[in-house]
Amino acid sequence: MNQDYIKPDNWSIIEEGFDREQVKSSESLFSIGNGAMGQRANFEENYTGETFQGSYIAGIYYPDKTKVGWWKNGYPKYFAKVLNAPNWIGIDIEINGENFDLNTCTEVSNYRRELNMKEGWYHRSFHATLKNGTEVAVDVRRFLSLDLDEVGVINYEITPLNKDAKIIYKPYIDAGVTNEDANWDEKFWEPLDVKKSGNEAFVTAQTFKTHFKVTTFMQNTIFAKGEKQNLSPISVDTKSDKILFYYDVIVAKGEKSGIQKIGGYTVSLNHEDTILAAENVIKTALAKGYNQLLQDQIDAWAKIWEMSDITIDGDVKAQQGIRFNIFQLNQTYLGKDSRLNIGPKGFTGEKYGGSTYWDTEAYCIPFYMATKDQQVARNLLTYRYNQLDKAIENAKDNLGFTNGAALYPMVTMNGEECHNEWEITHEEIHRNGAIAFAIYNYYRFTGDYSYIPEKGLEVLIGIARFWHQRASFSKNKNQYMILGVTGPNEYENNINNNFYTNYIAKWCIDYAAEQIQKVSLEYPSDHKRIIEKVKLSDAELQEWNKVAGNMYFPRSEEMGIYLQQDGFLDKDLVRVKDLDRSQRPINQKWSWDRVLRSPYIKQADVLQCFYFFEDHFSKEELERNFDFYESFTVHESSLSPCVHSIQAALLDKMDMAYAFYLRTSRLDLDDYNKEVEEGCHITSMAGTWMSIVEGFGGMRVKNDALHFSPKIPKEWGGYSFKINFRNQIVKISVNHQETKLSLEGTQELTVFVNGTAVLVQPNN
Ligand code: BGC
Repeated sequence: MNQDYIKPDNWSIIEEGFDREQVKSSESLFSIGNGAMGQRANFEENYTGETFQGSYIAGIYYPDKTKVGWWKNGYPKYFAKVLNAPNWIGIDIEINGENFDLNTCTEVSNYRRELNMKEGWYHRSFHATLKNGTEVAVDVRRFLSLDLDEVGVINYEITPLNKDAKIIYKPYIDAGVTNEDANWDEKFWEPLDVKKSGNEAFVTAQTFKTHFKVTTFMQNTIFAKGEKQNLSPISVDTKSDKILFYYDVIVAKGEKSGIQKIGGYTVSLNHEDTILAAENVIKTALAKGYNQLLQDQIDAWAKIWEMSDITIDGDVKAQQGIRFNIFQLNQTYLGKDSRLNIGPKGFTGEKYGGSTYWDTEAYCIPFYMATKDQQVARNLLTYRYNQLDKAIENAKDNLGFTNGAALYPMVTMNGEECHNEWEITHEEIHRNGAIAFAIYNYYRFTGDYSYIPEKGLEVLIGIARFWHQRASFSKNKNQYMILGVTGPNEYENNINNNFYTNYIAKWCIDYAAEQIQKVSLEYPSDHKRIIEKVKLSDAELQEWNKVAGNMYFPRSEEMGIYLQQDGFLDKDLVRVKDLDRSQRPINQKWSWDRVLRSPYIKQADVLQCFYFFEDHFSKEELERNFDFYESFTVHESSLSPCVHSIQAALLDKMDMAYAFYLRTSRLDLDDYNKEVEEGCHITSMAGTWMSIVEGFGGMRVKNDALHFSPKIPKEWGGYSFKINFRNQIVKISVNHQETKLSLEGTQELTVFVNGTAVLVQPNN
């Protein structure tokens, strides 16, 4: 596949020229979403070439039963699949008696796709010659409304170019869909009801097992001779799970005809009567009309960009990369609904099941905290608070922990573990650490302590109890150890004393103990309520302390580095640069046992610890560890390059920082990991944002103050971004000569630049 096929542009993602080989990749890259639903860039018209169909609804999933040869105790019962939702975009088209299909056309020219990120719409245009010789110009625009988030809109126009044409538009909605990753062609949707009325239709279906009820709807308007036609369907095909309308139009050569389709979903998560809700939302959308809906969309995106845009001068590819990342994050999650979270593939593919991973806390929260109202980040924390009982149950019933110890799932839709690989589920327990760290990070950044006495402390206690029980005492070393884990680097399983895990475990216990103390002094009634609820005694606190105070951290004194795990230095330490290129990506080229035996690191692991706890280590230590571990890292997780970019910038390795920046920001656009057709890497996109703001901008919050240490890659003329710091909007612009700060609001603010305090006046 040609990896360079996306045209550089500041505000749009553009593809020119029709290439069947690229259809699936483009379907991912040109995906649209509005936080409530999403749509891969599948064609509206029938396409018989290779395609990956994907329509997704936030929060709708299916528990796919775990099937393994040897069942081990504690195995999670299911793997949650994000479901390919019923199709609302479909419009089959017949032109002069021939089914219109780009795969069978004799010629396709002027083909262009554009995802306009500034205004939030997707557009496709081309000329095509059908086998019957009819040549047509086609122009299609589609968007998912941010304001009416149950509604999608399509404007599909056809102009016959060389002869008159009889065009039959056949818009449909169809719940007879399956997943790409379905086992044995399994069906996930049970059709319940099909209903039509005039130009509107409704197909209601529910998911098997989880019983989410969804009404998929459409409303169609036909245009010809530049005017809206008062046409009703001339006939209708109805099946138990699909409904298709026929509209006939005779179009003279050179004249435009078209169909506007309003479609989407109403869901039982939000409505008692999903059909009535669909009827109502169609009414609202029709009252606005296409032009107003589009204008509202442009306005809504303008508001998002006003706060979250990052500008980069003199480097279009870097600019396009960061905007693509910011755009996708906002398409995936807008913080309106605390039941929802951020799936690693967002609404662009099925992999990772649309579920919540540690990615949210470790990578996404900083982006949402700084570019939205603090309530959005608080919602993300509350999501975990609401699932605390399930995390306690998970630790108790699946793993035998007691006394309210909480192990959050590695992957979840509703608080239950829903990943089915044991080394991930049972061993990748470090995720508990990121969840506690996010609470600390939220308070550090927003200054909103109230979350901790209200909710966060209970989470911290559950997590500290888990680590206390999970550690075991080694008489041999006279220290506590954490055995049999998988760290962030998933290319090692069942290892002992993963430095990152041990470090964050100790930190979690210490932090929970500190917060108990602080809450007891400052919020005594919350303290009383919580301590009574969780039945925590001083004796238990002392036990925690014993573990945290005497944790073992593997280390090589000789090399001055921490060891990723016990025995790491016994591996055959051939660096990545000496590994033949043909061997990579190793996860596609090597057997799993060979990956496990190798020294290669999938993603930041020891370095993830240095990223979180930068202040606990000296710069020299960071540099030694960075130089060592980076040289073995293959970055086969999308979450890896961003952390490396931030640390390289801190260490003044600017060329490296820039290379990692491009890799993280254009991971999907340039398809570094050769898998973009499966979907885009949404959660790592927040890491891209961090690599500019925390990496090049050097933003940190220390002692309630905002700090910057700006650096700039030599490839850039300048860059700028905004931060919502405690309800004050700070804008920073950096170029090779100077750094400018400005402030929206009414109060002045002291900001530190390279360690020096600068008083910034509002609107100045
Ligand atoms: C990474 C995990 C991550 C998951 C989802 C995996 O490849 O190793 O750290 O949570 O992807 O993004």
